[in-house]
Amino acid sequence: MEFYFAPMEGITSYTYRNLHHRFFGGVEKYYTPFLSPSAENGLSTRELKDVLPENNGEIRPVPQLLVNHPEGFLKGARLLRDLGYREINLNLGCPSGTVTAKKKGSGLLMYPEELDALLDRIFSDPMVTGGEILVSVKTRIGKNSPEEWSQLMEIYNQYPIYELTIHPRIQKDFYKNHPDLEVFSSALEASKNPVVYNGDIFTAADYRRFREQFPAVERIMLGRGLIMDPELGEKLLKIEAEETGMDRVCKETEDGPDLVRLRQFHDALFEAYGELMSGDRNVLFRMKELWAHMIVQFPDSPKLEKRIKKSTHLSEYTEAVNELFKEAGHGL
Ligand SMILES: Cc1cc2nc3c(=O)[nH]c(=O)nc-3n(C[C@H](O)[C@H](O)[C@H](O)COP(=O)(O)O)c2cc1C
Repeated sequence: MEFYFAPMEGITSYTYRNLHHRFFGGVEKYYTPFLSPSAENGLSTRELKDVLPENNGEIRPVPQLLVNHPEGFLKGARLLRDLGYREINLNLGCPSGTVTAKKKGSGLLMYPEELDALLDRIFSDPMVTGGEILVSVKTRIGKNSPEEWSQLMEIYNQYPIYELTIHPRIQKDFYKNHPDLEVFSSALEASKNPVVYNGDIFTAADYRRFREQFPAVERIMLGRGLIMDPELGEKLLKIEAEETGMDRVCKETEDGPDLVRLRQFHDALFEAYGELMSGDRNVLFRMKELWAHMIVQFPDSPKLEKRIKKSTHLSEYTEAVNELFKEAGHGL
């Protein structure tokens, strides 16, 4: 089994990815949050920064593109190829209203003919047919209804998609309800391309349950679960190693005190954002976004959770975090 770190806009920028990789293992591939190249100008300065090899250390992430026209994709892909990237991911899953209104992300799923035309143009480009780049796709199972899936599956099956990541929710779900495992099961059977599963694997128990139901799946993309618990990839690999009897080596898998490592990771991120961002507000915004997920590891500290959320100065924030870790029994 291989675990991939999902793209998460506002969270998994290069700073986060590099530090996650430095402190934790278990992740085979990291995806960048979506980049939206235009046919004219390619990537923005901010987007370029996220994929420049010098900002990505030893990680070669998979850049993800969010487009509704082939020219934007191909312009971005050319640029990324020249930077040394091989796999490029197409976002057909983003549920945000502003994105779908532009027929991007899962907004394009409602227009099968346009989707087909987009894929046709991308997959007939010499850069793709010649094997210079591999195109993977991350998709939801429909815009308004899971019944849209069978037609989408037919379209995807016409193209040599390097990996098809399926998040089995429809756009309307956003992150509500549950992944539709019935549709996923049919997709797994029908797909001519390798399938990656994505959705609601937050704990070892979730993983065991999923694996029991889908023993044929070989790749899982983890999003919120890894933000909540950055060790999740290591933990799941350990389960794999135990169950298969294989001694697969995971980086830093010693059973040390987890919260100490989490604290070190947190401090490194906090410091890096402080150096990169102008203004305490921006740093706090980033850190609070993280805590919205990571706080599940501190279920007995609702008051400190509130203090972190409400902090307006770095000093207030740091004090609340210090207390949170102290309360959990691991000092500073
Ligand atoms: C804050 C946030 C930002 C996200 N940004 C992206 C993105 O840039 N591209 C993308 O394809 N999916 C994005 N997603 C969706 C995740 O990649 C993933 O598909 C989703 O969280 C379901 O997986 P999970 O249940 O493991 O979290 C985002 C999700 C969240 C919560």
